[in-house]
Amino acid sequence: MPRAQSVAYDDPAALERATSRLASLPPLVTSWEIENLKECLAQAQDGERLIIHGGDCAETLDECNPAAITATLKILLQMSLVLIHGSQKPVVRIGRLAGQYAKPRSKPTETLTIDGTPVELPSYFGDLVNRADPTPEARRPDPDLMLAGYHHAAMTLNFIRSLATGGFADLHHAEQWDLRFLTNAQLSGDLRERYQRMSQEVRSAIRFAELVGAGAMQEVSRVDFFSSHEGLNLEYESAQTRRVPRRDGYYCLTTHLPWIGERTRALDGAHIEFFRGIANPVGVKIGPTIAPDEAVQLLRVLNPKREPGKIVLITRMGASKVDALPPILRAVQKSGEPVVWLCDPMHGNGQVTDDGRKTRHFDAIVAELRSTMAAHRQTGTVLGGVHIEVTGQDVTEVIGGASGVTQERLSENYATACDPRLNYAQALELAFILSGALGRTAGDLPA
Ligand code: PEP
Ligand code: CO
Repeated sequence: MPRAQSVAYDDPAALERATSRLASLPPLVTSWEIENLKECLAQAQDGERLIIHGGDCAETLDECNPAAITATLKILLQMSLVLIHGSQKPVVRIGRLAGQYAKPRSKPTETLTIDGTPVELPSYFGDLVNRADPTPEARRPDPDLMLAGYHHAAMTLNFIRSLATGGFADLHHAEQWDLRFLTNAQLSGDLRERYQRMSQEVRSAIRFAELVGAGAMQEVSRVDFFSSHEGLNLEYESAQTRRVPRRDGYYCLTTHLPWIGERTRALDGAHIEFFRGIANPVGVKIGPTIAPDEAVQLLRVLNPKREPGKIVLITRMGASKVDALPPILRAVQKSGEPVVWLCDPMHGNGQVTDDGRKTRHFDAIVAELRSTMAAHRQTGTVLGGVHIEVTGQDVTEVIGGASGVTQERLSENYATACDPRLNYAQALELAFILSGALGRTAGDLPA
């Protein structure tokens, strides 16, 4: 099948060695965890749960360190607590982590100026494929990076599993909430007071559970996290795809929830062909150019048995193009195909500043979320949650929000290896906004 974004490995023997080794190594996740996530997703499909799906645009091998991992978990956890408060529903946390190392690019090569001379080099496709340094050696696709990616994913998951079974409890403590951004002048007094009240209520609910005793606290201190990444590199994904004892079908064991990107979702393409053959739940990103019929076709091809919780359609229209969404929602609704809808308010809202930096505006992100919620409400479909690019660190990549990142301040701590991410304060603010909207009608969403 035509394979979009395929990698031009130039040493078939080295590729074969790397993928055989990968195929022989233990799985990163297990089939029962995957089935457990599918059940959670089935509940989200029925509106009984919410999903928060988020993390880096591109993880890097260098950033596989405890500070970065705990910061991501902390913000996802705190956002989920705010959402539980607003929705009164259980929240499933799925990280874009432990394998989010492969990136689709709009062009296979780019021209960089090295020592004053323009040089055409392969684009950087993520640490699973090549390295970002602007040299021909670094940009050469190296199959051994798949093994390095596997090992770093394993280390990340190992740390997360330990934290999630108890060590995380202290992240709930009041002093772990950084609410300094609430003092920023850009927040109206009214909103500031509302956010402060919300965080106060969340924290006192947790304290109450702690006081009541270990039983009640167990749920809070043992948190479930699932992993997810774009299943872009089919060599990597297929090497870890296998049958498991006592279950039907094949499981892709690099991650719980692989997703197919906007650039690789062609119905006659290799990615759809591969992912229709696995038992995992599968995400698909869809942008404003998809025809309503095509969305229905995707669901039929990927989920012929109509399993609940199996397919997650992640809409990423762009704030100004959400009018493409209602016809898609209606077509899918009419088809009766089961689906979990998530809103990715990030990827349709990219902008490039005059000095060539990729950024996004917080207001556009909120606007897309607001109109997506309205579209679902009007159609009678269920929005299962959000998909965001976020880091727990204090970066300056997205413009706006109460933390006051301006275009001028972008260079202060612009650290992403790919797309601009919400920082800690922006992510928490987004959770407050969403939480406020979930508690009543979405029309009340504060601007
Ligand atoms: C991404 O999620 O980083 C991405 C590339 O998204 P999309 O496929 O929606 O453009
Ligand atoms: Co991205």
